[in-house]
Amino acid sequence: MNAQNEFIRISTNDLDLVIRIAQSKRIYQAYLGPKLMNESDFKSLFVSLKGGSEGSVSARGWEVYPASGAEDFFEPAFAIQHNDGNMTSIFRYVSHESKTIDANIKETVIYLKDDVYPVDVKLVYKTFGKENIIKTWTEITHEEKKPVTISRYASSMLYFENTDYFLTEFSGDWAMEARMSTQPLHFGKKILETKLGSRAAMHVSPFFELGLGQPAQENQGNVVLGTLGWSGNFQFTFEVDNAGNLRVISGINPYASNYELNPKETFVTPEFIFTISTEGTGKASRNFHTWARNYQLKDGKGDRLTLLNNWEATYFDFDEAKLEDIMGEAKMLGVDMFLLDDGWFGNKYPRNSATQGLGDWQVNKEKLPHGIPFLVEKAKEKGVKFGIWIEPEMISPKSELIEKHPDWAIRLPNREPYYYRSQLVLDLSNPKVQDFVFGVVDNLMTENPDIAFLKWDCNSPITNIYSPYLKTKQNQLYIDHNRGVVNVFQRVKEKYPNLPMMLCAGGGGRCDYESLKYFTEFWCSDNTDPVERIYIQWGFSQFFPAKAMDAHVTSWNSRASIKFRVDVAMMCKMGFDIRTHEMKENEQKFCQQAVQDYKRLKPVILDGDQYRLVSPYETNHMAVMYANENKSKAVLFAYDIHPRMGEKMMTIKLQGLDPAKQYKVEEINVMPERKSNLRSHGQTFSGDFLMKVSLDVFTTGQMNSKVIEVTAQ
Ligand code: DGJ
Repeated sequence: MNAQNEFIRISTNDLDLVIRIAQSKRIYQAYLGPKLMNESDFKSLFVSLKGGSEGSVSARGWEVYPASGAEDFFEPAFAIQHNDGNMTSIFRYVSHESKTIDANIKETVIYLKDDVYPVDVKLVYKTFGKENIIKTWTEITHEEKKPVTISRYASSMLYFENTDYFLTEFSGDWAMEARMSTQPLHFGKKILETKLGSRAAMHVSPFFELGLGQPAQENQGNVVLGTLGWSGNFQFTFEVDNAGNLRVISGINPYASNYELNPKETFVTPEFIFTISTEGTGKASRNFHTWARNYQLKDGKGDRLTLLNNWEATYFDFDEAKLEDIMGEAKMLGVDMFLLDDGWFGNKYPRNSATQGLGDWQVNKEKLPHGIPFLVEKAKEKGVKFGIWIEPEMISPKSELIEKHPDWAIRLPNREPYYYRSQLVLDLSNPKVQDFVFGVVDNLMTENPDIAFLKWDCNSPITNIYSPYLKTKQNQLYIDHNRGVVNVFQRVKEKYPNLPMMLCAGGGGRCDYESLKYFTEFWCSDNTDPVERIYIQWGFSQFFPAKAMDAHVTSWNSRASIKFRVDVAMMCKMGFDIRTHEMKENEQKFCQQAVQDYKRLKPVILDGDQYRLVSPYETNHMAVMYANENKSKAVLFAYDIHPRMGEKMMTIKLQGLDPAKQYKVEEINVMPERKSNLRSHGQTFSGDFLMKVSLDVFTTGQMNSKVIEVTAQ
């Protein structure tokens, strides 16, 4: 706090969030933006509108945690019904403390209480200095005699003042994830939310970008990037008020979720994580990427395994001989691992299609008579690691599990069920079901300690919304179920801290920064058409580092060359999901060389800084590059998607290089027996030239691509 004991300053290296404690002890957001030089200037922060009027009963302003029933006329962050039926709260400052966790991380906790009812709120802010990331969440508790019902419980509320606001959302559906679209915000509300419960991000992802004053741009302008660490129902409310200010409320979607909180129980909201950049989204995304690798992703600093998956290659139709063949193909390609997908389990109800068997995690004796240990052994003999697919949160209505435990599925006791992908969601609010789901992983790993990778799928939203376990507390289902899921994730990570795991939900239907604490990566989409993937990967890259984004080479879009497909997968964490015997010999050779080069360049692609150079949303091309920390190596990916006849070719200016260094430019991933037709291939340029003048990489070819290695001399 500063000299007048009036302000709480929450900072990163470049950002300040300044909270003012009014004489009334109510707290207000006084400032949020680029770091202020002088604390002495805080007293000049404009407070008449934002800060509430001193000492008066009416204290409208930018209250940090405004509750329903007070004098603010807009959407509240918090709402409650007390034991006496009263529905108001006003929170006042009690104290705050800041502790330094390490040289880069600080945590500030602000304690608030309602002076009429025994309800306490803790606002927590964790700042990551270098990465300019702020994480904030809220903890709510009370000491009323009986349980209270809370019906709003935002993680955070932030205010912005500008002439114009533009929201970029990431919406879509199966096979069309993270489509970016931008709209201006005017008076009133725009809400981004999901009610799907599980696979919750199928229609909209839990993140957004805000352009302040102009639509978010890549390399200039003020932007806010925010995301919620919650894989269940989330809600972002953007409300422009009467004064033209924007309020952003982030948290769990309170839909059908009035939560009964027992005395002394604490309700902890998910983390809202955000950054602000004055240099556009490129910088803001790099803030997220670096922070995720340093602090949030499971094994964020570790290596990632290249793999060959059998899903697209076989679907449910395989046996031991076929899988052995594919393992051989993995070895031939040079990837690290073979990943066995759906279809390996179920006996009474064999998993030969998506209609049955989920829940029966015993190996299917007909397809795989020698069990999983035999396959792990075979993989070892072939010289690759072995990974396996599970979908342990789900249950088929045709399964032995449901016959044994009819009360473990979320389904209505008194209505005809309806099914999404012929399955139901297990009731993870029930601790016994959590044990079962943990056991699916634990049993597999105990039997096969050499399993090197898990792909954890989740294909259905919650349907038939009724928890047999919660009985009369159905309004806690969405929250308690998701907490149960996270509890299992935590247990798996505790017991298997070094096991790489892929988060998947029928593609990219679950990718949030809470789940990614327990997963090393996520499956961006079942859509592996390289053209579509360019857009999908561009979308997810706004928030997630390449290291976390799985991209496989498949047979989708056979009009695209194998080179184009490989080049697109290579900008993320690369894998294959294809039979190599379907490829021509030179295509196989090409893939082998690409895998070798990828492994060599992984430190740059997966751990370097990403610069999105040319947007597929704005042009008929796309380019993205990665540069390592000491700027000695960069990799540039350039794609011609659907250029027009006679189009004026734009050139690319690189970013993130050292202007003083000399760099050799070499095209890699060239088909065998072909030569690079890149004019600059083999030539050396200064970093200054490459960043200010250009590199000539685009063409008018359809689905044409280039991968270029840039090496300091
Ligand atoms: C959906 C996933 O996204 C696919 O990759 C595959 O694992 C199937 N499920 C299997 O059922």
